[in-house]
Amino acid sequence: MLKEKKILLGISGGIAAYKSMYLIRLFRKAGAEVRVVATESAMWFVTRVTIESLSQNKLYDKVFGEDNDYTTEHISLTDWGDVFVVAPATANIIGKYANGIADDALSTSLIAFDKKVFMAPAMNCKMYEKFAFQRNLDYLKQNNVEIIEPASGYLACGYEGKGRMEEPEAIFAVIEKYFSGKKDLEGRKVLITAGPTHEIIDPVRYLGNHSTGKMGFAIAEEIAERGAHVHIVCGPVSIELKNPSIQRINVKSADEMYHACMEVFPGMDAAILTAAVADFKPAKIHKTKLKRDGRPVLMELIPNPDILAALGKTKKENQVLAGFALETDNELDNARKKLQNKNLDFIVLNSMQDEGAGFGTETNKITILDNKNQVSGFELKSKKLVAVDIADKLVSYLKE
Ligand code: CTP
Repeated sequence: MLKEKKILLGISGGIAAYKSMYLIRLFRKAGAEVRVVATESAMWFVTRVTIESLSQNKLYDKVFGEDNDYTTEHISLTDWGDVFVVAPATANIIGKYANGIADDALSTSLIAFDKKVFMAPAMNCKMYEKFAFQRNLDYLKQNNVEIIEPASGYLACGYEGKGRMEEPEAIFAVIEKYFSGKKDLEGRKVLITAGPTHEIIDPVRYLGNHSTGKMGFAIAEEIAERGAHVHIVCGPVSIELKNPSIQRINVKSADEMYHACMEVFPGMDAAILTAAVADFKPAKIHKTKLKRDGRPVLMELIPNPDILAALGKTKKENQVLAGFALETDNELDNARKKLQNKNLDFIVLNSMQDEGAGFGTETNKITILDNKNQVSGFELKSKKLVAVDIADKLVSYLKE
């Protein structure tokens, strides 16, 4: 896909710059040509020799360098490149680009570039959350700059939070997808469920679980990018969707999710149910806050509707239905039973025994079992890349 593509890779001064060396290799291995433009501070983290050896091209890091081919190298370079990928993109370079500042090789090249720009931010989580930075980021998004969102997790500065540059493989996948123009779900209508459900106990309390909705949102974004019309029915989650074409239906309880899905599903080509639906709800909702009186509180819990099974019952020949199974033991057998009992085409198995899989993580490790007795295991990867594997599986079923 990337054969003979010309990639300008911008590197700014963050510790994640070392990961960009691997990104150069991925681009080169895929047959692309790479030229690197770096800021002065990037060169504290990586060396000229590494960049030039890996890219097999001269590094451009000074607007008026003595060994530049032309004095207007920022123009010739930017004419040359098909895309500009800035990874890592610091708060500084994002701020400069959003405000039209051109005071070094990278910012000057960016302002001269008139094709597609991708930026993979990397910084401390407090810097990432800062209002001024967020304003700059929004401005770039509005102007068709594709932001490859950073992950949350352990940061080099010792903090935990959002700001870690996305892994080189995931950045590579975004660029590859851009060039492949893969629209293999064009016109398809897909329902996704995501997040937890909250089952009301009284006006201030509910029963819930730890689901964050990240996996379901990643699948929704992936299949929308590939051309599908996506409806996402989601329980209470704090994340936002990036793709404005996705229709979001917010619900709280399993009953609300059930009714929304039953209404939407008949018009769909497929549904992938990722939500961690609460299996039980209190038999009685207290109208006023339950008071403590020192005695145990007994609460009767009654089963919630099984949304996936209900859709399985109404599923038509030409509809594809997929679910998730989160298991702690006997994983394959349990997943197989759910696949059959709920009349699914395929099921995505998560094992709680796998490190890096499950609620709230940025990564996931899945096995897909299908109704043709095929079992495919996948490596631990970012949820973004897991979503690609699931979308590929959906495409293979929709083709039939
Ligand atoms: N699911 C659903 N409605 C429910 C419970 C689960 O739609 N009330 C869906 C989930 O979205 C997921 C799949 O069913 O796609 C499997 O959920 P899971 O909780 O693993 O399975 P259960 O059928 O609830 O079985 P158990 O909890 O006994 O393992």
